[in-house]
Amino acid sequence: MSRDEPRDLDLQLVAGEWPSGLTGEMVISAPHPRTFGGPHPFFGEGVVHRLSLQPGTHGAAPGTFAWRHALIDSPSARLRAARPDVFDATVVGVQSPYGLLNAANTAPLPWGDRLFCTWDVGRPVEVDPLSLRFLGDVGHRDQWNVFEFAPQPLLPMVTSTAHPVIDPDRDVMWTVNTLLGQLEVVRWDGEGPVERWPVEGGVVPQSVHTITQTRDRLIIGDCAFKVEPQVIFGGERSEPTNHDAPLYLIRKDVIEATPPGTPVPADVFRIAPEINHYYAVYDDSDGVRVLFEHTENADLAMVQGENDLDLLGRPCDPALRGLYGLPMSPDRTSIVGFDPDTGKVEHYAEQVDAERLWTRQLNAMDWSTEGMSHPTLHHTVHQGWRPEGATQKMLALYAERVDRGAWPGEETAPLVVSSRRDDLSVTATWELALDDFPTSPIFVPRGVGDDPARSRHAGTDPGGHDGWIVVPIGNDAGFRVEVFDAAAVGRGPVATLSGGGVTLPLVLHAAWMPRAVAAPEHPRLRFADELGRVGELPDDLADVARQVADDLDQGAPLPA
Ligand SMILES: [Fe+2]
Repeated sequence: MSRDEPRDLDLQLVAGEWPSGLTGEMVISAPHPRTFGGPHPFFGEGVVHRLSLQPGTHGAAPGTFAWRHALIDSPSARLRAARPDVFDATVVGVQSPYGLLNAANTAPLPWGDRLFCTWDVGRPVEVDPLSLRFLGDVGHRDQWNVFEFAPQPLLPMVTSTAHPVIDPDRDVMWTVNTLLGQLEVVRWDGEGPVERWPVEGGVVPQSVHTITQTRDRLIIGDCAFKVEPQVIFGGERSEPTNHDAPLYLIRKDVIEATPPGTPVPADVFRIAPEINHYYAVYDDSDGVRVLFEHTENADLAMVQGENDLDLLGRPCDPALRGLYGLPMSPDRTSIVGFDPDTGKVEHYAEQVDAERLWTRQLNAMDWSTEGMSHPTLHHTVHQGWRPEGATQKMLALYAERVDRGAWPGEETAPLVVSSRRDDLSVTATWELALDDFPTSPIFVPRGVGDDPARSRHAGTDPGGHDGWIVVPIGNDAGFRVEVFDAAAVGRGPVATLSGGGVTLPLVLHAAWMPRAVAAPEHPRLRFADELGRVGELPDDLADVARQVADDLDQGAPLPA
């Protein structure tokens, strides 16, 4: 698997015709690939890519498409660039005398014309959608519960989620903050302090990767990323991820009627098998209905190492060293209804296809308020059956949970798939080449802004079927970007952009924004306001921190 350093490119249209109504910007989060060989590929500093969907914009030559990138020049990245010698990549992130590097590499989160980048063990950071430069962390460190297992005078470890949500009715960000398994919900108005409420009985045995919302409720599940204490100190995993997990439903009006810091009640359900990404229908007038993308018998916390054997007993490919554990069971997606009044759980739909649907990566959906309220199609990319992507060590841990009889006889092709949001029936599939590596897709609505009565991210016919699916596809011969008609993915791409032979490093989530303009003015946290404990550092490291704070205040670029 070849991985070039991130770079700016002008992508060329090499097949099909570019749809005239396809507009806006695709933003993609990724860890910088230089850390891929380290303990975990998810720990590299955040890079943002932005693909402009109108040719000849953002500096691209006429007829070409601007693929731009930046290493987020956060305090973390700047401190590491200045003193790489004091940063140490460990199995629990990149540690330093300053604290834990906030990688902010997992998911882009647009909020109007603002753009945030997130990850699970750090505060969201805001970047400028136009320049992709760092603007500020969300909330002063003193407003968060910090897991300071070692001194973190300047870079706090904040256990949060890579998938906060923006509440379209309240215009706030909802997220979480867990500390030693205690769950708290967090609300941020975009300017002021973050506010936290402990959840009564809210225990998170593993971690929270996703939260989702309806109009009235937040839904927060324990996700299948397990960190056992001995692993922090270099030991081996002794247990698989938990097969089932608690799911908390919390009323937003109760949160808002409760002073911050005071516990709020939750309705508790259990969900199985393992979950990672999940999405509620925003309109909850007919009850709470959630689509779960289960990660059954996958293990994102375990990686391939030297001398590992793959699922078929072959030596692992050194090029895949550091890759997280891909699934040993077929993809399972379900739609489950929850009635908080009666405690009743209803399974509406389940999708499993052991012949075709393996190794689901990420999804594309219509994130407009209208689309989230009445979703029609859910689009996913699947890598296919990849026995080289998991190890005998993993298999031994999961043992009887894995049905080896379900394994296909040979590798299966990666797929782009559309499924109905009501019954999960597959409406379309498109098969890619065996050596393709489809990454995070986005949905782009058609006719954005045509109807002034709709929210600004909505097209003329919201839900996920009227628009396009844009999928970057990695390949050792060079990456490409394919565009599908969202209503007819099975007809294949309508347009293909080429990266000219450049290969794509691991990228994580992507999102769509209607436009990229300079971030609007808001009061923002300055790193200079977080230097209160700089005196705990040796003088040379303290001087570097003060310099970084000055550089950020003056807008100095990150040294190359
Ligand atoms: Fe995610």
